[in-house]
Amino acid sequence: MITATQKFTEIKFGSGLFLQEIRLRNKFLRQPIGLGPVQIGDLQDEKEHRHFGWLNDEGKLIACAIVVGSGDIVQLGQMVVAPNYQNKKVGKKLICKIEDFMVNNGAARIELNAQISAQGFYQKLRYQEMGEEFELVGVPHIRMFRNLLCSTC
Ligand SMILES: CC(C)(COP(=O)(O)OP(=O)(O)OC[C@H]1O[C@@H](n2cnc3c(N)ncnc32)[C@H](O)[C@@H]1OP(=O)(O)O)[C@@H](O)C(=O)NCCC(=O)NCCS
Repeated sequence: MITATQKFTEIKFGSGLFLQEIRLRNKFLRQPIGLGPVQIGDLQDEKEHRHFGWLNDEGKLIACAIVVGSGDIVQLGQMVVAPNYQNKKVGKKLICKIEDFMVNNGAARIELNAQISAQGFYQKLRYQEMGEEFELVGVPHIRMFRNLLCSTC
């Protein structure tokens, strides 16, 4: 159950939370699809990106995602919730907070490459497919988007 003390946070590149973000991504996003771990030195181009997370009651990072770009259309990526916290609405709450944050920063639309296994999750959050399925890092994906300023979609 999500309690009042669990919370949304922006993650500063290079911080202790950022190191937790890398661990989450390596263990629960990259490893399950056969990708080797990355380290901070491999991620220098992510200095420009926004990193977001969800903390549990002890202040430990249990979910994360990043946003690339700063204009009307931004890209969401690296979305992962730690297995013990999946199916408890953590992913939904994290994306809702990121959407609010990005609207306040001038974004009108979020796009992403969804793993097919997560397509239903994004559909629940009112993301729509665009184009055909394609393969990325050996895994089937579909491109999806949500217009943030549309109240009915
Ligand atoms: C996909 C993922 C981010 C979902 O996060 P989560 O916190 O478990 O999801 P939530 O509990 O917030 O689910 C919100 C809704 O989506 C549904 N949902 C969650 N995962 C789903 C999935 N894989 N397929 C279909 N529906 C899903 C839930 O049932 C829930 O529906 P409801 O509102 O009707 O009850 C998480 O399972 C995860 O990290 N998976 C491994 C990494 C991954 O696949 N990342 C995405 C890469 S594109």
